[in-house]
Amino acid sequence: MAADLAREPGITVAVETGTFGGGSTRTLASIVERVISIELSQDLHDAALRTLADLPNVTLLHGSSSDVLPGVVSDLHDPAIYWLDGHWCEGASAGYGSLCPVLDFSGVSGMGDTGLEAGTGIV
Ligand SMILES: C[S@@+](CC[C@H](N)C(=O)[O-])C[C@H]1O[C@@H](n2cnc3c(N)ncnc32)[C@H](O)[C@@H]1O
Repeated sequence: MAADLAREPGITVAVETGTFGGGSTRTLASIVERVISIELSQDLHDAALRTLADLPNVTLLHGSSSDVLPGVVSDLHDPAIYWLDGHWCEGASAGYGSLCPVLDFSGVSGMGDTGLEAGTGIV
C-alpha cells in the first residue's frame, strides 16, 4: 500500500509513528527518499538507531508522537505519507497508558493538532 501511495505526485517523504523493530521503517526507506520515524520507547529507539544505521535516508526521533509529530509536520515542506502505527502492541513496546495516541490528533483526517494542512499529506 505504501508503495502505491508513494506513486502520488510529489510524495518523497514518509513519516512513521511507532518504529518498533524498524521493519516498516526499512520498507518505507526503500520506497521514498526520506523517512522520519518516531518511537516512544527509549529502548526500542536505541535499538533502531543500531539496526537502521545503514540507512542514511532515515531519521529516528524519540518521544511520543503526540509531542513530536507537530514539530515534524511544521518542518516539512513536501507532501508526505503519514504512517500512524504508534501504539502499545506487545512486550517491550511503550504506550500502555494511552492505547490510541492517534486520537490526540483532533480530527484525524485534517490532523488538527499536528498543523497538517489539507492536501499536504496522505494519512
Ligand atoms: C505496532 S508497533 C509498530 C510496528 C512497526 N511500525 C512495524 O510495522 O514494524 C507500535 C509501536 O508504537 C510505539 N508507541 C506506542 N505509543 C507511542 C506514541 N505515543 N508515540 C510513538 N510511538 C509509540 C510502541 O512502543 C511500539 O513500538
